[in-house]
Amino acid sequence: MSGVRDPLRLGILLSGRGSNFLAIAESIRAGRLKGVEIAVVVSNVAEAAGLQAARELGLPTAVFVSMGRKRAEHDADVIDCLKAHSVELICLAGYMRLLSPEFVAAFPNRILNIHPSLLPAFPGLEAQTQAFDYGVQVAGCTVHFVDEHLDHGVIVVQRAIPVLESDDAHSLSERILAEEHLAYTETIARVASGEYEIRGRRFVK
Ligand code: GAR
Repeated sequence: MSGVRDPLRLGILLSGRGSNFLAIAESIRAGRLKGVEIAVVVSNVAEAAGLQAARELGLPTAVFVSMGRKRAEHDADVIDCLKAHSVELICLAGYMRLLSPEFVAAFPNRILNIHPSLLPAFPGLEAQTQAFDYGVQVAGCTVHFVDEHLDHGVIVVQRAIPVLESDDAHSLSERILAEEHLAYTETIARVASGEYEIRGRRFVK
């Protein structure tokens, strides 16, 4: 036995610009995520900038347009694609679509999501604006395992930042995004290490 493990195969799901995906790809390239590779980048939006960026990086990509399709049928296609690419860990990176219960059950505790708030505060859309409008003094992001509820599963990493007097919702979003890019790499490294347990809602190293 060589003791060298096969790389952990990531499946990235995205709907938009893909900056979190690119941060993960850059962490792999720079050697910050050893033993991890991107197996496929999947989008539900044909025009997603993140998808084009993945093609330019020479990564395998797939598009399953979700508009107008039943959730379970669309998800079945995505699940088949992820399995065909031997994906072991799924990273939702700005994937603006709820997963069906069948999808979650197909990859138990193997789907991660990033959300731009300190959950459980401000789930759902435009979390940064929700937080800013509420007047919070501390904001941030959360990476969590996906369960069948929206922005709800076991938390792996959170990163917090102060809201500055000079902030507006846009500048706050930008500063949260910089934390998101760090948080996703930190999360994947922790999960890839395999050195953790999930006790109830708690991620324990
Ligand atoms: C990120 O801010 C991510 O946290 C958010 O969408 C953005 C995607 O940006 N996701 C959610 O709000 C999910 N509930 P990106 O395409 O540049 O990674």
